Parts: sequence; C-alpha cells; structure tokens
Amino acid sequence: MKIIFLGAPGAGKGTHAARAAEALIVPTVSTGEILRAAIRDETPVGVKAKSFIDAGSLVPDEIVIGLVRERLAAEDCKNGFILDGFPRTVAQAKALEALGVKIDRVVNIHVPDEVIVCRMSGRRVCSGCGKTYHTVYNRPKVDGVCDDCGKELIVRGDDMPETVRHRLEVYETQTAPLKEYYEKKGILATVEGQEQPDDTSKLVFASLGIK
Ligand code: AP5
Ligand code: MG
Ligand code: ZN
Repeated sequence: MKIIFLGAPGAGKGTHAARAAEALIVPTVSTGEILRAAIRDETPVGVKAKSFIDAGSLVPDEIVIGLVRERLAAEDCKNGFILDGFPRTVAQAKALEALGVKIDRVVNIHVPDEVIVCRMSGRRVCSGCGKTYHTVYNRPKVDGVCDDCGKELIVRGDDMPETVRHRLEVYETQTAPLKEYYEKKGILATVEGQEQPDDTSKLVFASLGIK
C-alpha cells in the first residue's frame, strides 16, 4: 500500500499515519520529521530549511522532493509506505508521479481551524525520537517524558499561535488544492477528525480497509 496523509497542520496526520503504518507494517515517511532531524543535526539541508520552518512557510519544492526521492529509494519502502506531509504542493504531487510512484489512497483528515489552534498549544514532541503527545488528548505515562525512549518532551518551535495561523494560511493557498487533484483521480477519502484520537483512528482504518 502506498498512502498519502493530507490535512491542515495539526489535523492529526502524524498521529494517525504512525498508527496506520504500525497496522500495515510499512514505514512512515514524514517530511516534517526528516526536516526537523536535519535541523537538529545541522546538515546542509537543515541549515537551508530552518528559516522556512521557523516562519511557518513551506520549504522550497526542490529541497523536499530531493529528500523524498532519496528516502523512497531505501529498501524498507519496497513494499509500501505512508507519506505524512508530502506532497504539499501540486508541483510536489507531479514530482512524485514523475518518480513512478503510484498512490493507492489519499486520506484527508478534516479538522476546523479553531480546534487546530487549541490542539497545537497542547502538543508536545519527544526531543529524542520525535513521537507526538498532547497534554490533554494523548498524554505520556509520565509527564514530560517519552514512553518509547525516555527523552524529554518539548514544544515544537513552529507551534506558537502566530506561526500556526500563518501555517494555516499556507495550507489553504498551497496545499488544499491537492484535495481536488486527488479527488479527480478517484483516490481521495475524507475523514472527519474526532475529538478523541482513537475515534479518528477507527475512521481512518475503515477508509484504508484495515480491520
Ligand atoms: P509538518 O511537520 O508536516 O507539520 P504540519 O503539516 O504543520 O502538521 P503537524 O505536524 O503540525 O500536524 P499533524 O497533522 O501531524 O498533527 P499531529 O498528529 O501532530 O511540517 C512542518 C514544516 O516543515 C512545514 O511548516 C514546512 O515548513 C516544512 N515541510 C514539511 N513538509 C513539507 C513539504 N512537503 N513541502 C514543503 N515544506 C514542508 O496532531 C496535532 C496535535 O493534536 C498532537 O499533539 C495530537 O496529540 C493532538 N490531538 C488532539 N486530539 C487529536 C485527535 N482527535 N486526533 C489526532 N491528534 C489529536
Ligand atoms: Mg506532523
Ligand atoms: Zn522518544
């Protein structure tokens, strides 16, 4: 299965892509995660990407497409993968096709903007492995500590309210047109995001035919 998770910032792409990937035993390829790791490691790509991410703007297509091309060529992507946060522009979607990738399903998670701003203020991410939590909806077993790797949970740099608002505008203008793009191909499934992550997971799994 080759799947794309589409949705506004904070809609739950990362959360639900990780759960579906576990169920389908395929890797998740999150361009946001790859870019944040590049920034942590101060690689040349990370240095270029940092100012765009901090501002809540998109990183230029050629940088992101290069990263995805490299990642999808890895052995573990042979039997399928879930793309989280890519493509984010029509140009990126076309680049994916040019790589010969045939997508089976696009899951679009829809969440109203007011809910998103509230979700982002409670989001915490692991400084070690990047796993996502929430102070109310998805708490770690021990406050401030990752269940999986024991490292400290931190607030993401681009989760400040002003930056979140800018990310939502960028989504509307540059990424939302992909809904129509994949709708026309007949592979789009829209899922209404629920208050409880587990309720959204059920809808996502149903849309992917996972029991
Ligand atoms: P990226 O990391 O992809 O961020 P995003 O799209 O803004 O999305 P988020 O990760 O903020 O949200 P999410 O949908 O994954 O939600 P989550 O599961 O965390 O991109 C970051 C930046 O990198 C971009 O701004 C851009 O600069 C750059 N970039 C990345 N890809 C790019 C590309 N292809 N092209 C160009 N630039 C690119 O959930 C949110 C929170 O809500 C969590 O805390 C979660 O626990 C909580 N929550 C509460 N209730 C629920 C519920 N019912 N379901 C799910 N989660 C819930
Ligand atoms: Mg994410
Ligand atoms: Zn961790």
